[in-house]
Amino acid sequence: MDSQAISLPKGYKLQPGYPPTSQYLELRLVSGLSPKTPSQAAAVPTGSWYGFYVTFEATKGDPQPIGMGRIIGDGGWYFHIADMAVHPDHQRKGLGDVILKALLQHIHREAPADGKPYITLFADEPGRRLYYKNGFVDAAPGQLGMWLK
Ligand SMILES: CC(C)(COP(=O)(O)OP(=O)(O)OC[C@H]1O[C@@H](n2cnc3c(N)ncnc32)[C@H](O)[C@@H]1OP(=O)(O)O)[C@@H](O)C(=O)NCCC(=O)NCCS
Repeated sequence: MDSQAISLPKGYKLQPGYPPTSQYLELRLVSGLSPKTPSQAAAVPTGSWYGFYVTFEATKGDPQPIGMGRIIGDGGWYFHIADMAVHPDHQRKGLGDVILKALLQHIHREAPADGKPYITLFADEPGRRLYYKNGFVDAAPGQLGMWLK
């Protein structure tokens, strides 16, 4: 199944790629993720392996990006899912699930077939049920996620 076959609620559209920089920064902020700078955000479309975002078409104005997720990876075996975010006004409609499934499908379609892709993420509390539902398991106790403080 490709991403085109994933169905969304009315008014929403799944697009490959990333929101424009200013909307990316705003989407992170409004969904409660840590603020980033425009220079940091400029690397998102060039440095990511793949991404999807969801736009919402309100009655007036252009469709706005209201959700996203992206993959940082080498395209061979190592894929890290980042920036899973849905605007609070549009949460609990299945959009996070659509974005995650589309990302996973893309990895399984594009990664080399002669080996299993290693797909990781750091799960903030709001996303955990979504990740468990889609097959993710805790790395601990065998491994512990770490970041440089
Ligand atoms: C994590 C996040 C991306 C999930 O996005 P979302 O669009 O709300 O996700 P979904 O709608 O697919 O699923 C969320 C819940 O809504 C439920 N849901 C799905 N469709 C629904 C509907 N039509 N009506 C009511 N509930 C619905 C799901 O079952 C799920 O419930 P559960 O957690 O009890 O299982 C979003 O909460 C978010 O942006 N959080 C803040 C940023 C963040 O912490 N991101 C994670 C970083 S690791």
